Amino acid sequence: MNFLRLQRPRNDGADPSGSGDPNDPRRLRRNPLVWIAVLGAIVLYTQYEGGGLLGTENKGVRRIDQIHDVGGPFELTDHNGRAVTAESFYGQYMLVYFGYTWCPDVCPVEVLVMGHVIEILGTVGEQVQPLFITVDPTRDTVSTLAKYAENFHPRLLALTGREDQVAAAAAAYRVYYGKGEVANSPDDYLIDHTDYMYLMGPDGAFLEVFPHGMRPAEVARSIGQYL
Ligand code: NI
Repeated sequence: MNFLRLQRPRNDGADPSGSGDPNDPRRLRRNPLVWIAVLGAIVLYTQYEGGGLLGTENKGVRRIDQIHDVGGPFELTDHNGRAVTAESFYGQYMLVYFGYTWCPDVCPVEVLVMGHVIEILGTVGEQVQPLFITVDPTRDTVSTLAKYAENFHPRLLALTGREDQVAAAAAAYRVYYGKGEVANSPDDYLIDHTDYMYLMGPDGAFLEVFPHGMRPAEVARSIGQYL
């Protein structure tokens, strides 16, 4: 009490702590600007820890992330020959990637990344169904996809369908694909395609998109926020 009484006369109004000492902790506690700074830091830190900042700052994510109508119904066949629709996966998160098995470079890397992401997530990753949807239904038959899927995560499902079914699924996900020049035989061509990975919620709603080149740990951290 003596201490406070002694200090009080030195309070000229500019120092809310009344101590006159800029390092006095009471002065910091009472300064609203300090509180705003601390709250801001906590928010930033929480977002960073959750991958939120990394997720939105990564190339292209924010731009694509602003599209909220990605996804929708589809009717396809999985690599076990079972008919599946978007509703088949309701209740689970879907990690969706469109590609084709003949793709020499990007697709296999991204499908590997999907598998690593599931592994990193551990038991919570069981809520996530990795899906590979072909944009090349002519060559990617059920049996071709079955052989392809074997090389990746055991829970990966590879989906194909009629050309119109694949086109409808790709359109729902805003995926572009186009056949390149046919080379030596009718079966020898590349397909140019969008290579984003989409996270969809248990109700099928779009949650997040991951561009090609993100590390599995980054993707897992972002997905982990939702699980
Ligand atoms: Ni590809």
